[in-house]
Amino acid sequence: MTADSTALAHRRIFVTTALPYANGKFHLGHMMEYIQADIWVRFQRMQGHEVHWVCADDTHGAPIMIAAEKAGKSPQEFVAEIAATRKEYLDGFHLSIDNWHSTDSPENVELAQDIYRKLRDFVRDGKPASFIERRSVEQFYDPVKGMFLPDRYIKGECPKCGTKDQYGDSCENCSAVYAPTDLKNPYSVLSGATPEMRSSEHFFFRLSDPQCVEFLREWTDGANSFDRHGKKRLQSEIIAKTKEWLGEDGKLGDWDISRDAPYFGIPIPDEPGKYFYVWLDAPVGYLAALKNYFETGKAKANGESRTFAEFMAADDTEQIHFIGKDIVYFHVLFWPAMLKFAGYKTPDSVNVHGFVTVSGEKMSKSRGTGIDPLKYLQLGMNPEWMRYYLAAKLNPHVEDIDFTAEDFMARVNSDLIGKFVNIASRSAGFLHKHFDGRIWDGKLAKYTKSVMPDASLEIAAFYDAREFGKAIRRIMEVADTVNWFYDAGKPWELAKKIAGDETARDSLQCTCSAALESFRQLCIMLAPALPELSRLGFEFLGIPHQTWADVANTLTAGHVIKPYNHLMSRVEEKQLDELFGLLPGETQKAAALKPSSKGASSRNTANKPVESGPQANTSEKSSEFISIDDFTKIDLRIAKIVNAEHVEGSDKLLRLTLDVGEADASGQPKTRNVFSGIKSAYAPENLIGQFTVVVANLAPRKMKFGVSEGMVLAASGKEDDNGTTDGNSASGLYILNPHAGARAGMKVT
Ligand code: MSP
Ligand code: ZN
Repeated sequence: MTADSTALAHRRIFVTTALPYANGKFHLGHMMEYIQADIWVRFQRMQGHEVHWVCADDTHGAPIMIAAEKAGKSPQEFVAEIAATRKEYLDGFHLSIDNWHSTDSPENVELAQDIYRKLRDFVRDGKPASFIERRSVEQFYDPVKGMFLPDRYIKGECPKCGTKDQYGDSCENCSAVYAPTDLKNPYSVLSGATPEMRSSEHFFFRLSDPQCVEFLREWTDGANSFDRHGKKRLQSEIIAKTKEWLGEDGKLGDWDISRDAPYFGIPIPDEPGKYFYVWLDAPVGYLAALKNYFETGKAKANGESRTFAEFMAADDTEQIHFIGKDIVYFHVLFWPAMLKFAGYKTPDSVNVHGFVTVSGEKMSKSRGTGIDPLKYLQLGMNPEWMRYYLAAKLNPHVEDIDFTAEDFMARVNSDLIGKFVNIASRSAGFLHKHFDGRIWDGKLAKYTKSVMPDASLEIAAFYDAREFGKAIRRIMEVADTVNWFYDAGKPWELAKKIAGDETARDSLQCTCSAALESFRQLCIMLAPALPELSRLGFEFLGIPHQTWADVANTLTAGHVIKPYNHLMSRVEEKQLDELFGLLPGETQKAAALKPSSKGASSRNTANKPVESGPQANTSEKSSEFISIDDFTKIDLRIAKIVNAEHVEGSDKLLRLTLDVGEADASGQPKTRNVFSGIKSAYAPENLIGQFTVVVANLAPRKMKFGVSEGMVLAASGKEDDNGTTDGNSASGLYILNPHAGARAGMKVT
């Protein structure tokens, strides 16, 4: 198939993104997945294809059941509350999802049970050849809770080293790996009771069946698995993984798909007290969300008049999943096998992305890292900045991408605004001032072509292949060219001589019009990634919504553009500081060390995190005493500075690597990462090898540059502190040094 015929063929696509667990709020990782899918979906729609994108909450399973119980709610109430929070994020980041549903729905019960029945009643060559098998399974049972315990709810003493309170799979202290049944003195995390071994009947999906293995080998095999557009069904790195799982040495085990009551899930037909394991009904939720979309008339409203059954049976319906790298096994083995042997349509492609990290840190609630997407929106930060930034970093590979504040600011301010938005803002003024906003009536199409490289086909191919980073780069190269052309025309000089100089006048109108025509085309090409900015761009140009094919058109001669209104503001450092909790108020809260009510907060600027030490001011008379108990809450330790270095992009901070006498699970010395605002006073090389004092039990704090795991104590004074009579000694920063002999890890009391 040639590139042209693919471009022309009308596609009918059903897109999904992974169904998020309904026991937590969205984090940036979720937004990244949706933004990736949204860019692709919007691009395909702009090509005139029919795309239906559905998603849903993944509601079932033991963790959600237990979390609901803890919250004193029914699981249904619990997941409904989470579901109610979704819209704000989805609308907030301009995600064009067509239907948001739930796995706890009648459609899902119907479809999951139907798939199960078809697997159970499978017939081969006229003989029963069921894919479902019953087996007795021995498992820990909590006699107080009256339920079987998933492994993560069992703890006990490590069978190797005897450390208490270890999980059922591995020891945090000695790293030994074992089965939950190996634990000494096991107990249930839910009730504290000693679990009993009990056996129960479980249901298995026979993935090890040779027919199933053969199907999966073929389905996943790189050479055979091209989709109808001649593209690979799976990414090369995923194909390589499946080879490991399915190859000569790879053994596909049968899959335990049942759980015993009590369980929040879908009942297994004809088996009272048995439920589907959450991962069986979760992907079926894709189909349930689609069915609901059809049956509530939403599909029709989007131009699809067939029924759900007709749509799924149609030869040309494409089913495309977007998922993260952690759930590949479920999507490229279990899911296609379930669908295949239940007689359902199998996926056309599974697109796997890597993870997004923030300043190199994995997102973790317990360590307080990551970016809260809702906070981002509530701070009034433009969602399209984030879309642009992620688009610029995304590629079609299973690679992680990192968010850093500096990079974010640079890309948005210098590229998006400095290059793209700038084209409109600089040319609109002249056109309004001297030509009533009228577009030049010369040969604008031809002239623009000579100015602007025709990159639209190339850029379209990038979007189609999920090469968003390349698409954005190419668009910015085009924007560069347009700016060079504009600068070369020197419109500001032409504007000075237009009175009585027809050539200059014509040239000015021509230059500005060509710049705006280029801007129009760039708006179209950016629209998949930046739908709102493009919309504002079209509005400013006074033209209707544009599809991809409109790249070939031109602004008409004499067309009048609207007055230029600010299209997008720049990212301010302050906003990022706020997003990362670095503003004075929050900094003080986090430090929990308020010297006095006169508050150091007013002296702390955004860039002066408290890591530089409490703003001790001896002259400040504190009206309150603290008790010795208050004092001993603070774990002060001697730290050895094993490394110190500058922090790129910060003019206040040094990154210190501290030995506080700690060791990791395997007994290896473990250091801490601490950011300290002492750059103005110390050269990093002079600090290495020194001993100092650190607050060791301060909660880790995320900062723009990473996580700070403690606070180095320093004496400081400032010019505006009037506590001493000697003006000179009132300023400067001095870290504390113990007398010789103190060792790393010693407690300071
Ligand atoms: N409920 C399952 C999916 C069931 S699909 C039938 C699940 N939920 S999840 O909430 O943990 O993750 C939802 C999606 O977010 C997954 O595709 C996952 O890979 C993705 N991400 C989770 N953390 C992520 C990042 N840090 N970065 C990018 N994507 C991330 O898994
Ligand atoms: Zn151990």
